[in-house]
Amino acid sequence: MLQYPRLCLIENSPSSSLMQVLIVDDSKLALMALKGLLTNAGYDVITADNGRDALNILKENSIRVVISDWEMPVMNGIELCRAVRNEIFTGYIYFLLLTGHNTIEEMVEGLQAGADDFVAKPYKAEEVLARLRAGERILSMETRDVAIFALAKLAESRDSDTGAHLERTQHYCRVLAQQLTTVEKFRNQIDPEFIRLVFQTAPLHDIGKVGIPDAILLKPGRLDPAEFEVMKQHPTIAEKTLSECLDRFPGTVFLQIARDIAGAHHEKWDGTGYPRGLKGDDIPLCGRIMAVADVYDALLTKRVYKPAFSHEEAKNIIVEGRGKHFDPDCVGAFLAREEQFINICEKFAEKAEKEE
Ligand SMILES: [Fe+2]
Ligand SMILES: [Fe+2]
Repeated sequence: MLQYPRLCLIENSPSSSLMQVLIVDDSKLALMALKGLLTNAGYDVITADNGRDALNILKENSIRVVISDWEMPVMNGIELCRAVRNEIFTGYIYFLLLTGHNTIEEMVEGLQAGADDFVAKPYKAEEVLARLRAGERILSMETRDVAIFALAKLAESRDSDTGAHLERTQHYCRVLAQQLTTVEKFRNQIDPEFIRLVFQTAPLHDIGKVGIPDAILLKPGRLDPAEFEVMKQHPTIAEKTLSECLDRFPGTVFLQIARDIAGAHHEKWDGTGYPRGLKGDDIPLCGRIMAVADVYDALLTKRVYKPAFSHEEAKNIIVEGRGKHFDPDCVGAFLAREEQFINICEKFAEKAEKEE
């Protein structure tokens, strides 16, 4: 059983608010037939009978999907497609070409012009709808990536750690998750999508620090016990915020993973972590993965109150924490891939030098 349901947020899908689709065809009859089909399927349909009019409509409305005929007067489908790709719109426009041109050469011409997909005429209703849904899925991924990126940037802006910490930890997490697929007990929990989302959402692990006062977050030294208690609230702050997002968009997998990473990365395998004192497998897997990545990176980073440890020193501390602080399998994965940890650390050190 997968830990997360395979659901995905499809922004503006017909099941929530109506998604706008622009259809372009010089044949009134064809236009009306397609309009009827899409309206019945729950789309908000706008029509144009040539490419030039269509382009003007796109400039004035935030339409994300176009279904265009190929042969048209004034500006044909290919010309429209090229014009769309040359314009700057706020979001990506998914372009479906409706065509009687079915040779390889013509399909290549369509793709080179920037079309995303084709529907051959005469079309079947189910095919048009299925291709439209595929387009929506692609658009929703873009929306998700933008949301994750914006949240990560927000996290970075308030985090006293450097941006490179966020980048390194996301790479460490990916390596660990990849290695864990070789462990039988994780086979059903980790798939390529899980790995991708862990990688993408890892930079959000400390996003809860946006709620920690400056005096504590930016203190140039070790925190005293009272300050540390305040700092310990950051997983809860993040978890609460992301849970509220999930209430609004239930089933959104990236939010679930982000919530679990942020909420559980300071839990410890033996139950002595925070905020909940969760134990063993009760700690979400992505939180257990992040715990190793985060601690490894913190150990290799110089702080005012401690030097940067070497890989060997950090490795000894992580091995020492096996079954106490860390999931034994995650430590096993770390040991199996330690060369990659060293490489990632070096790669980002070089990058930082170049940027200086
Ligand atoms: Fe943290
Ligand atoms: Fe961190």
